[in-house]
Amino acid sequence: MHRKEDARFIRGHGNYVDDITLSGMLHGAVLRSPFAHAKITSIDTTSAEAHPKVRAVITGETLAGLGLAWMPTLSHDVQAVLATDKVRFQGQEVAFVIAEDRYSARDALELIDVDYEPLPPVVDARKALDADAPVIRDDLEGRTDNHIFDWESGDRERTDEVFAAADVVAEQDMLYPRVHPAPMETCGAIADMDPITGKLTVWTTTQAPHAHRTIYALVAGLPEHKIRVVSPDIGGGFGNKVGIYPGYVCAVVGSIVTGKPVKWVEDRSENLMSTSFARDYHMHGEIASTSDGKILGIRVRVLADHGAFNGTAQPTKFPAGFFGVFTGSYDIEAAHCSVTGVYTNKAPGGVAYACSFRITEAVYLVERMVDVLAYDLGMDPAELRMRNLLRPEQFPYHSKTGWEYDSGDYPRTLRLALEKAGYDELRSEQAQRRELNASGRSKDLMGIGVAFFTEAVGAGPRKHMDILGLGMADGAELRVHPTGKAVLRLSCQSQGQGHETTFAQIVAEELGISPDDIDVVHGDTDQTPFGLGTYGSRSTPVSGAATAVVARRVRERARIVASAMLEVNPVDLEWEKGRWFVKGDPEAGKSIQDIAMAAHSSLELPEGVEGHLDAACVYNPPNLTYPFGAYLCVVDVDAETGQVKVRRFVAVDDCGVRINPMIVEGQVHGGLADGVGMALMQVMAFDEDGNHLGGSFMDYLLPTSMECPSWELGETCTPSPHHPIGAKGIGESATVGSPAAVVNAVLDALKPYGVRHADMPLTPAAVWCAVQGSPLRT
Ligand code: CDP
Repeated sequence: MHRKEDARFIRGHGNYVDDITLSGMLHGAVLRSPFAHAKITSIDTTSAEAHPKVRAVITGETLAGLGLAWMPTLSHDVQAVLATDKVRFQGQEVAFVIAEDRYSARDALELIDVDYEPLPPVVDARKALDADAPVIRDDLEGRTDNHIFDWESGDRERTDEVFAAADVVAEQDMLYPRVHPAPMETCGAIADMDPITGKLTVWTTTQAPHAHRTIYALVAGLPEHKIRVVSPDIGGGFGNKVGIYPGYVCAVVGSIVTGKPVKWVEDRSENLMSTSFARDYHMHGEIASTSDGKILGIRVRVLADHGAFNGTAQPTKFPAGFFGVFTGSYDIEAAHCSVTGVYTNKAPGGVAYACSFRITEAVYLVERMVDVLAYDLGMDPAELRMRNLLRPEQFPYHSKTGWEYDSGDYPRTLRLALEKAGYDELRSEQAQRRELNASGRSKDLMGIGVAFFTEAVGAGPRKHMDILGLGMADGAELRVHPTGKAVLRLSCQSQGQGHETTFAQIVAEELGISPDDIDVVHGDTDQTPFGLGTYGSRSTPVSGAATAVVARRVRERARIVASAMLEVNPVDLEWEKGRWFVKGDPEAGKSIQDIAMAAHSSLELPEGVEGHLDAACVYNPPNLTYPFGAYLCVVDVDAETGQVKVRRFVAVDDCGVRINPMIVEGQVHGGLADGVGMALMQVMAFDEDGNHLGGSFMDYLLPTSMECPSWELGETCTPSPHHPIGAKGIGESATVGSPAAVVNAVLDALKPYGVRHADMPLTPAAVWCAVQGSPLRT
């Protein structure tokens, strides 16, 4: 089925935050810090306030008066809304100007005079815990260092034993660089406080409208029923639009102060410099095996750079997200990881950029380590993986770090990817190419990279997961009108993933109503049930399950009405898609449309049956879902220039039952492109003073069709046993699995040069340096 929402998107009729214009609306702009670390000695706003079109200037002092200078982050830290004492990263919010138009607001920023006293910054996370490192968060009482948290998972002692007894131990340091979700639409908000009713409406680019509303209520002390958060069409989120940014809070305060609606929409540089980044994990991996390649254990130490405020979005119990799945897809005896989080003078974040809370980092780590082991053992990396993958009979599999993988047939998926790619032929071609390389007749190298991933998506069971104390169950409400048309209300929120189509398809499948006759309403807290939103590929595993459950409830209500219509006992009715009929008499039946009309009519219903067909549910998932996949990438590398060309990419994904195969393919295409970008092009770099070096798309590169091959997709289907329709998430699988495949391919090409590892991004400069034997450090 084609995407229902595309009718408006491809005609340019989407309705994004910046498309909304309210009567009397004013415009806000944020003044940002030019320094990474500096004391603020004074802020003079007099000239800005005198600008003829400026209505108000808000500073940290104004906010402090309202108790709003600091706000909670999603990880139980606090973040400055507007700086009062110090600035802690370049681009930090210092003042907010509200003017009659956007241009005047920006002009007036230049009239604000701020005196800074620069302080030495902490830029390199590896130095953040040095005894002489400046303390970034001196706002936190008693704070004498830049340490945020220590977290561990697995069994340290057992892992040490396994390592001590192993024939082979391979070690490798690696960096998953700081990258940015960089959605096409930047972040923004329009706040409108109605002075008469006292109701605040915030139209905003949020992936989690209900969570935002509750947080606004708790922080500002506003009654929750007097707050409406609307997220209209969203131009990509990828984790960037989960948290609350200072600009949103300033727009709200601005509307309260001026009595007018206030719009704030950031520009591209602001988005790249100050909103949530992702990754930034310095990892030390160790993998232990027998000499013939049976993997026994994995041990990992991670240093996590969380920037100036711990704004990472993670379930409370998992400060390092789901990094605990670093054991990957393999049958091993023991595993242990420890993660230390530190503050640095960089933008806050650590969001789940197109991944379920740090799973991308975990998958990259383990898939690089398996290749490093293959390098040391002189084994084929595909064979090494096949030898160690979990076997189908091991499911549900209890991992060594406490997770329960729901279902899978991993060897089948890897076999399919290898067959699709023609793995043996590719290796023969590579052998011939290497002969030419060795004889000096060609500098064109060829690499083949394999990666296998398991994701844990669908956060999450209430017993294990919450964000800021809010449980992660999702609500769904389904109303069937008298004429049999339906409206489904969901707490999750599409940012382009096609929910209006796929969720209608779930109802259609369960009730036999055409998907065209089902409207999906989302992104408006006044119109939808509570739930924590869309990120970490949780929509289908959680809200998708809620949708199937609520549709089944409607079906059961329809059975009772049909039994009254047909004057039979409900147990004597049988369902076929779209109708209930009398068992053994298929002619005697009623369609869902007839039943819907009867449910609203004067038909006599059994005692206690209220009529109508509407139903609601709250779905608390019993477990996460575990999609997986096998990826194979072929690259050509010019040894003289370091240029990498991705020649082929085969991706075989298993996300259980696919609701809409075309949308699934689209999700995979996007994620694969993301992976090529991260592997080859992207890093949020800083100079030694903490100046951000990637503030535009001239410096921070996004992959385009020019860098991507024509994707070759395949699928296997292992339904999730606990999801009502057997679906697992897919939105982020390809982003999670593909960087390792591309990097493994490039390093496979460089193998004849004795290169065992090089860090992302494998830019031409990085590849060239690796070929020269002197790795480029990011
Ligand atoms: O949470 P998010 O929507 O980003 O991720 P998702 O739940 O994995 O879904 C992404 C899109 O793919 C949605 O439109 C899903 O309904 C669709 N999908 C599907 O058609 N079949 C699946 N098994 C999983 C997702």
